[in-house]
Amino acid sequence: MSAPVVAVLGTGIMGAGMARSLRRAGLEVRVWNRSQDKAAALAESGATVAATPAEAVGGADVIITMLTDGPAVLAALTAAAGGLTDGQVWLQTSTVGVAAATELAAFAGANGLDLVDAPVLGTRQPAETGQLLVFAAGSDRAREKAAEVLDAVAARTVWLDQDPASAAATRLKLVVNSWVLATVTAAAEAISLAEGLGLDKRIFADTIAGGGLDSPYLQAKAGAIANGDFSPNFGLATAAKDARLILGDAEQAGVRMDMLAAVAERFQRAIKEGHGDKDMAATYLVATTESDRRDS
Ligand SMILES: NC(=O)c1ccc[n+]([C@@H]2O[C@H](COP(=O)([O-])OP(=O)(O)OC[C@H]3O[C@@H](n4cnc5c(N)ncnc54)[C@H](OP(=O)(O)O)[C@@H]3O)[C@@H](O)[C@H]2O)c1
Repeated sequence: MSAPVVAVLGTGIMGAGMARSLRRAGLEVRVWNRSQDKAAALAESGATVAATPAEAVGGADVIITMLTDGPAVLAALTAAAGGLTDGQVWLQTSTVGVAAATELAAFAGANGLDLVDAPVLGTRQPAETGQLLVFAAGSDRAREKAAEVLDAVAARTVWLDQDPASAAATRLKLVVNSWVLATVTAAAEAISLAEGLGLDKRIFADTIAGGGLDSPYLQAKAGAIANGDFSPNFGLATAAKDARLILGDAEQAGVRMDMLAAVAERFQRAIKEGHGDKDMAATYLVATTESDRRDS
């Protein structure tokens, strides 16, 4: 079997990294992005830059969507309709929530696409190095056709269900992200509390380093906060979108998410303060009552 041709729709932080990982694996890659400069930057990796979603997907074996949310994915795929062909595999890797995942499965069914609900865990660097963790729900046929693509972008793929309309992968992604968003916010608060109580802002992460409470993720985010480096790996506005999705799906399920509701509120405050384009670690920047005073 010849190597699959891959179309990547959406070359933001994650899509660009994934496209480069696919090129490094020697696959033919077409890229499209709404703001063309971000797709054009991938030409030097050997990717072909497409002017429209339809041009990108035409003749591709595997389509990857890596866009902000469900409406953005649906808009891009609808615009791609002229280039879609029966049996193309569609790896839907954006985080979209259960309702949108179900809607996208219906679109795939109506357009003859072999959908894999395939949200990813991992941020800018794992995307760039092909080390993502993919949660996947899709058919064995799609799994086989997408194998080389998944090998190129992921360290591991966890297959959960044969039916993408189950949104099983999306459900697991929401579960894991509820912990991620809470962890970052808890770390930011602990660091602010240390400072407020007259301690060094590195003391919290340094004290738990290497012990049972530690994690590489916590050290990475605490380090970014301590260094004042809020360049985006996971944008705060994107994280706020995830918080909304989690709260919506939790409510549907009758699950109270008191902590995540507080996180979502705090992210909204950070967006209002102009931090939406920064990394979500910038939740730290609204940790003091000073920001409340600015609001009132
Ligand atoms: N960053 C992470 O750590 C991470 C990890 C796992 C999963 N995710 C998920 O991956 C997805 C992408 O995240 P990201 O971090 O790569 O975000 P990003 O850098 O902000 O990229 C978002 C992409 O979506 C596009 N887009 C947004 N609205 C659109 C619309 N209406 N029509 C067409 N294109 C649209 C953007 O186009 P423009 O460039 O034109 O704005 C851009 O290509 C999200 O669902 C996110 O939740 C992110």
